[in-house]
Amino acid sequence: MEAFTYKRGQLFAEGVSVAELAKKFGTPLFVYSRSHIQEQYRSLIGALKELDPLICYSVKVNTSAAIINTLAKEGSGADVVSGGELYRAMKAGISAGRIAFAGVGKTTAEIEFALKSNILFFTVESEQELERISAVAKRLKKTARVALRVNPDVDPKTHKYISTGKKENKFGMDLNRALHNYALAARLPNIEIAGLHMHIGSQILDATPFAEAAMKVASVATELKKLYPTFRYLDIGGGIGIRYKPEQSPLLPATFAKAVVPILKPLGLKLVMEPGRNIVGNGGILVVEVQYVKQGPSKKFIIVDGAMNDLIRPALYEAHHEVIAVKQAKKKTRGDVVGPICESADFFALDRELPDVKQGDLLAVMSCGAYAMSMSSNYNSRPRAAEVMVSGKRAALVRRRERIEELVCGETIPMAW
Ligand code: LLP
Repeated sequence: MEAFTYKRGQLFAEGVSVAELAKKFGTPLFVYSRSHIQEQYRSLIGALKELDPLICYSVKVNTSAAIINTLAKEGSGADVVSGGELYRAMKAGISAGRIAFAGVGKTTAEIEFALKSNILFFTVESEQELERISAVAKRLKKTARVALRVNPDVDPKTHKYISTGKKENKFGMDLNRALHNYALAARLPNIEIAGLHMHIGSQILDATPFAEAAMKVASVATELKKLYPTFRYLDIGGGIGIRYKPEQSPLLPATFAKAVVPILKPLGLKLVMEPGRNIVGNGGILVVEVQYVKQGPSKKFIIVDGAMNDLIRPALYEAHHEVIAVKQAKKKTRGDVVGPICESADFFALDRELPDVKQGDLLAVMSCGAYAMSMSSNYNSRPRAAEVMVSGKRAALVRRRERIEELVCGETIPMAW
């Protein structure tokens, strides 16, 4: 389903006018479509049903409690990478028994929190981490289930900052080292070998790297299953890409499934997947209001009230996000869409054909469901935007706009100095 479409020249989020939402809740405003998120989840689980997968929504992608809860109600688990994400996931309704904890730098406190919560498993990235998890589990008299993260050394052909499964990346361990570490895990106290994990990168639009990685780990997984009777999960991470540009073809769940199911099915393991972007990316937009239109000597700048603190992807990865008018405009212009932050990297679009908007008009930055609000900051002391979720004709404020007093709460000035 296209969550955001024009009706009589006005942009709608499902059955709700985006202009009405901006009027009611102000801008910059994130608007999410609940149906889109549900449909994406269902289509992925449907495509993989032969493998009876556990989908662990990757919480880092969008941490909104309303979104996590929508997915919890669909039966989703969660992939978390910090104590904070674990807390959020459980608070939003995901049971700990469906949560996998990843990340290269888990602290003792985070491991303790996860063990006390009784999570599904830790994905382990190094020997030292394995030893730390074992020590904490022993102290707490708990058993830690672990899946070692293997780096299959495949090129996912995505942006270099978001590829994770190549040997020069900090993530996981190579296959030989992993085998050595499974033996270590078997010797360590209070550790149960639960499975194997990998994640090769993000925004992958071709199924081939997934199939290549699955092939690389398939024989190892078979071997491990024979060696360790508790070995039962194969977690293949996230990474399925979405359409950011009209001419892009998204990687459809059916295409993905066709490539990986024949490799994974014979293994007889429980499949775990950690999708994020594919579930929520095109289920969100960022609505901004034009503040000024400024004609420079060589180009036009459309200055809006949203900025790189709300959406950092263009500045960080030169990522492309479509920018469209909330009220459809026939007349076009050319220029940059920029924010008010004091950095030249504060842009949403550069040298683009754009709707010919004027001061006070609204623009929608598309594909802002994933890695937008969750990567936002208070840079330039800008309060974080509000978030609204739409379902059919209903709309609910799911996070109010941050207040300026909140910017300084927690700070103190040492008076006696
Ligand atoms: N599992 C693990 C272990 C991950 O590291 C990630 C993302 C995911 C799952 C979810 O991947 P997805 O299905 O969303 O591709 N900030 C970047 C993307 C960073 C990806 C980090 N890891 C961006 O805005 O493009």
